[in-house]
Formats: sequence, C-alpha cells, structure tokens
Amino acid sequence: MSIESLFRPFSLKSLHIKNRIVMAPMTRSFSPNGIPAANVAAYYRKRAEGDVGLILSEGTVINRPSSSNDANVPHFYGEEALAGWKNVIDNVHEAGGAMAPQIWHMGIMDNHQSGWLPNEPFEGPSGLGRPGFNNGKTMTDSDIADTIAAFGQAAADAQKAGFNSVEIHGAHSYLIDQFFWQETNKRTDAYGGKNLKERTRFAVEVIKEIRRQTGDDFALIIRLSQFKPSAYDTKLAETPQELAEWLTPMADAGIDIFHCSQRRFWEPEFAESDLNFAGWAKKLTGKATITVGSVGVTGDFFGAFAGESSQPSSLDELTRRMDRGDFDLVAVGRPLLADPYWVQKIREHRTDELKGFTKDALAELVM
Ligand SMILES: Cc1cc2nc3c(=O)[nH]c(=O)nc-3n(C[C@H](O)[C@H](O)[C@H](O)COP(=O)(O)O)c2cc1C
Repeated sequence: MSIESLFRPFSLKSLHIKNRIVMAPMTRSFSPNGIPAANVAAYYRKRAEGDVGLILSEGTVINRPSSSNDANVPHFYGEEALAGWKNVIDNVHEAGGAMAPQIWHMGIMDNHQSGWLPNEPFEGPSGLGRPGFNNGKTMTDSDIADTIAAFGQAAADAQKAGFNSVEIHGAHSYLIDQFFWQETNKRTDAYGGKNLKERTRFAVEVIKEIRRQTGDDFALIIRLSQFKPSAYDTKLAETPQELAEWLTPMADAGIDIFHCSQRRFWEPEFAESDLNFAGWAKKLTGKATITVGSVGVTGDFFGAFAGESSQPSSLDELTRRMDRGDFDLVAVGRPLLADPYWVQKIREHRTDELKGFTKDALAELVM
C-alpha cells in the first residue's frame, strides 16, 4: 500500500509542515531543575534533521507551585528554562523542522519515586488523582484563575520564542482531564457538573485565555484521551453525541487540532463504525485531527513503561484510514524516541533498517 499520503505537506494558520508525521510528546526527565539544556536541544534537533514534520515536546510544566512531581521534567516558565526552550526551537528551525511545546499541569499526582516533592501540595478539582486516591488539595477559585492565566502565559511565551504552535495536555488523567472525569471532579460549583459538557468549562477557559494571549492565527492543539491510565476501558464520552458535546465547546473556544490519544489507533471508538477517536473527532467538529497509538510498532506504550520491547509493524491499516480522510496527522512515539531517522527510513522504504523499540532507549536521549 502507498505511503504517499503521509508525505504531503500540511498548513494550518501558523503551522506549515513538510509531512504528516508528528513526534508524540514523550516525557524524558532529562532537564535537571526544570532547565532544558544543550543535550535536550540536540535531541529535538536530530528529529528535525530526520524529517519529522511536527515535533511535539515532552510535557513541560506551567508556572504553578505544584504543577510537577518530578524535578527533572522541564519547566515552561522562568528565564533560564525559557532560554533553554528558545535554544531548542532555534535548533529545530535551523534543521528545517517545526515544533510545539506540550504545556502541562500534572494535577494530583503520586509522589515521585525519587522522593522529590514540590513546595506546595498537589492541586486538582477535588484533591483526587483517581478514584479513592486523595493526594493533594481542592483548588479554590483563585487557584483556578491563576492556573488558567499560567496556561495563557506559557502559550504566549511559546509564541514569543518562535514555536510554530502549542499543545495543551488535556489527556491521561492529568489536571485538565481530572476536571473532565466525574470520578476525579466532584465539585458542585461551575467547574463541576453532572455532564461532561459542564466539566469541560475549565478546559474551555484555558483555551479562551490562550487565544486571548496569542491571537487568532496561532495554531492551537489539545491532546485528549478517553482512557485513563488507572482505568483503560473508561470512556468520558460513551456515545458520538456525548463526544460532540465534549469537543464542540473546545472547538468553539479556539482549538484548531484535536490530538486524540489512543493506545492502538485501529480500535474503533464506538460500535457503529470502524472510525477511531480521531476519525470521530474530525467528523463531529470538522477540525483537523491527529491520531496516535502503536503506529508502525507492536505492543503499546504502557507495555514500554513495564519494560517491553516492540518490533516494527505494517503501516497499511494506517494509510487506509488516512486515505479515507479520517485524520490529518499521525503521531509516532516509541519509534521516534528510539530512532531519529525513522521518518526517512519509512519514506525511503528502508524497512530492514527500522529498529523498533527497547527499554534501553528510555535510559538516554538517543541521538
Ligand atoms: C516514555 C514515554 C513518555 C511519554 N510522555 C508523554 C507526555 O509527556 N505527554 C503525553 O501526552 N503523552 C506521553 N506519552 C504517550 C505518547 O505521547 C504516545 O501517545 C504513546 O507512546 C503512544 O504512541 P506509540 O505507540 O507510538 O509509542 C509518553 C509515552 C512514552 C513511551
């Protein structure tokens, strides 16, 4: 099957990319005290040299006292960290790439195995990181207002540094997703609510603030997941109608691209068709979408955290869906973490040179 559809350029507002392949955001914890240094810039530059269309950074945390549980996760605030990110984007641009930081607030977290803790308790909609797990405080109105402002500031700083777009991390049970999920959002004020649409208010306000600070032409991505790492089979939206009620307010508030996180991109979202999450999001909102999840590689990313290796796999099903118009862009995680030249090898049909993924790749920034 042809892979041509993966190698068409794509343009949307401030974003102009040479192909449809996106490097998925992947936390690396190689930024001591939150500062991304020259090694981090070299790591991303390599992916630009390897012809990745759009690089999404690892999650990088916004300016809140407890937005992170890990001292080595990069900050997206403070003079030194922002200078580090400026160096990253300058390197990526010199190598002909495009990049967006993934801006992140972790919300209520498990304590990190290193024993490091932020100076203030973790914060979330109701103190819950997952059902029955309370490890922080319930956010007040002013915590919420300051957090929305901090997301806006991070996006404005990204734009100022020259990034081509920004991605809001709204997936995987972190802060924004803790607001979406009824099991972690027990609020009775305007940020809570019985239905998903009501619990989307926090995300909508974050999006509006980012739009206010960055203007209309800055491409804005949000990453969402139906599943929760503590509950793989959970679906925030159980029906296409609920999915529309969740996504439409975010599209109206200014999202340009929905990044629909799945562990396996070929899994249908609802029983009535084979469309996946990104396929439904595009059909329901008319917005561009990114699919992700075990593209070109066996196993899934939770297996990777458990130390599992993965082998290269066929792209036929992916291109079948792409040619049908289900989604616009395709994010690739583990293969690009392990090999900066994965895109070139795919384009040139050098399949015997594909490396797959082993857990050793997690221990270093593979250049
Ligand atoms: C080491 C590692 C770190 C990750 N960190 C993040 C992250 O910071 N933000 C995020 O949204 N997803 C994160 N993910 C999920 C990936 O972005 C991606 O969705 C997942 O790996 C599935 O893609 P793959 O099957 O191509 O690896 C991470 C995955 C891995 C393997």
